[in-house]
Amino acid sequence: MGSVGRWVRRVGGADTTFDAARRRRFVRALEADFDWSKLGARLDATERDRARSLWIARMRDEQRAVVAMSQLVADLARLGAPLDVLGAGAAVIHDETRHVDVCERVARALDPARPFRTTPPEMPHHGTLELRHRVVVSVVSLLCVGETLSMSLLRAARDHCDDEVTTDVLEGLLADESIHSRFGWWWLETPQGELRDDERPKVARMLARLFARLDRSLGAEAPCVGDAMGAPPSLVRRDVFHAVLHDTILPRLEAHGIAARAAWCDRALREAA
Ligand SMILES: [Fe+2]
Ligand SMILES: [Fe+2]
Repeated sequence: MGSVGRWVRRVGGADTTFDAARRRRFVRALEADFDWSKLGARLDATERDRARSLWIARMRDEQRAVVAMSQLVADLARLGAPLDVLGAGAAVIHDETRHVDVCERVARALDPARPFRTTPPEMPHHGTLELRHRVVVSVVSLLCVGETLSMSLLRAARDHCDDEVTTDVLEGLLADESIHSRFGWWWLETPQGELRDDERPKVARMLARLFARLDRSLGAEAPCVGDAMGAPPSLVRRDVFHAVLHDTILPRLEAHGIAARAAWCDRALREAA
């Protein structure tokens, strides 16, 4: 422990070091609330291996969310966003780091004898885009589209899950993701976040490319069977994707003056360009 830590501990009487405070916040609910010994109790070896792969993939998605959200909050700070926006954004980063942790714990608990790498995946950095445009693109793609979809897919995963511990973990992730998607829509409502006329067509072009990628991975009838340990069956996933896209995401983007329905129709065109 460094000298500052010792000083704080002496003055306060209780353990008020940064490390203790950080651990209290970070591990809350993770170690205490889940009985890892019951995880996947009914699985055979093949199912256990498939579930482990799924949770490793989910952990990597959460690692991407940490990086993307950290970049977005840094850009919002550079843009001069209000302090409550920055505080809310920092809370989202904190949530995503806990998600990495809990996904990693699920994967490890499914096969403690097999270690795996936790190095962050490669991420593109859109440093060449103008600052405000970077923020607009990230808010719309990462939060309004990504988090809204993620919330609905997690809900479907929870509803099809037949493992008690995994259901509890999904419930925790779901509670956070619903707040994350609201953060994006909230920013677009603020005076600073409101889209300008010249930004809307650029956002629509970005959306056409994003929709093409999402349609390929979520909208098709992928021949995967889903998993009762945390992934909805593929047909359910496809139906959820189309329902949330057409009933929620496209109308809400249209309400902000973005030609989102046209972007959906243009998705194949844009991908080919
Ligand atoms: Fe997350
Ligand atoms: Fe999230």
